[in-house]
Amino acid sequence: MSDERDSAPVTVASLRELKARGGRFACLTAYDATFAALEEQAGVEVLLVGDSLGMVIQGRETTLPVTVEDMIYHCACVARGRRRALIMADLPFMSDLTPQRALEDGARLMKEGGAHVIKIEGGGEMAETVSLLSRRGIPVCAHLGLQPQSVHKLGGYPVQGRDPEAARRIVEGARRLCEAGADLLLLECVPAALAREVSTNVPVPVIGIGAGPDCDGQVLVVYDMLGITPGRRPRFVKDFLAQEGSIPAALSAYVREVKAGSFPGPEHGFR
Ligand code: KIV
Repeated sequence: MSDERDSAPVTVASLRELKARGGRFACLTAYDATFAALEEQAGVEVLLVGDSLGMVIQGRETTLPVTVEDMIYHCACVARGRRRALIMADLPFMSDLTPQRALEDGARLMKEGGAHVIKIEGGGEMAETVSLLSRRGIPVCAHLGLQPQSVHKLGGYPVQGRDPEAARRIVEGARRLCEAGADLLLLECVPAALAREVSTNVPVPVIGIGAGPDCDGQVLVVYDMLGITPGRRPRFVKDFLAQEGSIPAALSAYVREVKAGSFPGPEHGFR
């Protein structure tokens, strides 16, 4: 018999309950109505309208040129294909220049794009912004570890938090962001042991990408997990289409493996 929880809308509260029960959830990027519907049918709980759309949809070299209008357009496309999944949208580069601007652009993503959660890249230094959005009723996911919008500062996409001081900054940042009102955290490209430490010590669900198996949820760029993104495949990506042979089967296998804890495996993580 299907559980009522399987048809009720996914919310930040239901993800928190899932974490409390020790459950895991699946998140994938989606940029249009067709993929939103397919992913949801496969059991994906969180649809991320990522600013990765700048690279995989628009063919740009980085996510930096993506505008809030681009994000609203793709978010609204995803919202038309969604029935119960939670829609999370990225605040694009420099939309967080001031807390006020983050509030205004985040509100546009919700009002015009239909987003439910706004994702903001940054560590503890974003606490004031997260606090303002949270106090105004906007759920926030704080994206720590590797922050692709800082690609030029970082000189690429290196693993973060490997030395003790950098790891301490991530742990401390996660704590401050939760205190400021973040509803979710996302950890990108950090050692698996560090992600485990953060996930077990914060009250909110933590979504990992290249962060080992011990986060509460996992996310990948959907074209990466279908093996159709041109260029070199990052270590944390698995090609589920090659394994399964069709897109619906690949999406279902991803959800199944994330929930069972068999994806990501040790070969997809960092030390
Ligand atoms: O933009 C995006 O797709 C993301 C994921 C890589 C986490 O932020």
